[in-house]
Amino acid sequence: MNWNTRVTEMLNIQYPIIQGGLAHLAYSDLAAAVSNAGGLGQVTAMSLSSPGKLKEEIQRVKTLTDKPFGVNFAIGQHGRSFAEYLDIAIEEEVPVISMTGGNPAPIFEQLKGINVKKLVLVAAKRQAIKAEELGADAVMVVGQEGGGHLGRDDIGTFVLVPQVVDAVSIPVIASGGIGDGRGMMAALSLGAEGIEMGTRFVATKECVHASELYKNRLVEGTENDTVVIKRTIGAPARVIANPWTDKILEIEKQNGSYEQLKNYISGNANKKYIHEGKDHEGFAWAGQVMGLIKDVPTVDELIQRMVAEGESVRKKWAESI
Ligand SMILES: Cc1cc2nc3c(=O)[nH]c(=O)nc-3n(C[C@H](O)[C@H](O)[C@H](O)COP(=O)(O)O)c2cc1C
Repeated sequence: MNWNTRVTEMLNIQYPIIQGGLAHLAYSDLAAAVSNAGGLGQVTAMSLSSPGKLKEEIQRVKTLTDKPFGVNFAIGQHGRSFAEYLDIAIEEEVPVISMTGGNPAPIFEQLKGINVKKLVLVAAKRQAIKAEELGADAVMVVGQEGGGHLGRDDIGTFVLVPQVVDAVSIPVIASGGIGDGRGMMAALSLGAEGIEMGTRFVATKECVHASELYKNRLVEGTENDTVVIKRTIGAPARVIANPWTDKILEIEKQNGSYEQLKNYISGNANKKYIHEGKDHEGFAWAGQVMGLIKDVPTVDELIQRMVAEGESVRKKWAESI
């Protein structure tokens, strides 16, 4: 069966499946595994400690796959300038750049005249329109079910995606709450031409930097086990609920300052949980889709399973409608 959409054609991939940026988790192993399995893998630039490290990681992806891959830029979330990192991605001629978490205009400025596909992750219709005006090749639209940073409007994927499909003419990639072939087909039915997954890819064998404890929590947890933190500082983000995030929410409830929150929401606190498995000393991003995660397959097993599920949905539709 063919899975061609404008997204697969533009990105030159077999299946319309994109691995989202994953702070401190999306390195070369995962990115290459996703691209080798027929999707688009990505390295997350700003979790690397220097532009040189990004160069190493990109070069490692190139040794592991000859397929297209992307580099993800979370603007303004890491307190460091992205310009030098972006220069490395340009120098290494990466085929796809994705961006999120701030005003993408300076990235577009730096990419002027460069032959690279530009994807912008947005969480609202107005942001999608803006991304198209800036010259995005496609928008990824994340609903409030998603893991990690979200929009401020709390709109779910099912309402957001068709609105954005109607509002822009570039292809739309649905994100947030997708973890299997049924979710993928639902997204395509809404008019999306590709999907992006974050949480589901953490619970794979090739996400080698995620601790066993984190992966186990994703498998054992339910859709009720996430909460949204950082609302009071204007950067809502979905995490696995634990005593650490209870503390964050308590500070927020009492209108605590950024200074009071700072250590609780730091990259170090994130790494304690996700790398070291110390869940009492930090937090981990995850979406509601953790309620659908039941195993830790290889990336290839996951993608093949999703494709088979998608094909059986198509067959069912062809027979019953
Ligand atoms: C652990 C984790 C880390 C994330 N880090 C980033 C990031 O650095 N950059 C980014 O663009 N999105 C990031 N996201 C968001 C994902 O790329 C994706 O949009 C989101 O996970 C989709 O929702 P899902 O988790 O329901 O699949 C992260 C998500 C998770 C779960």
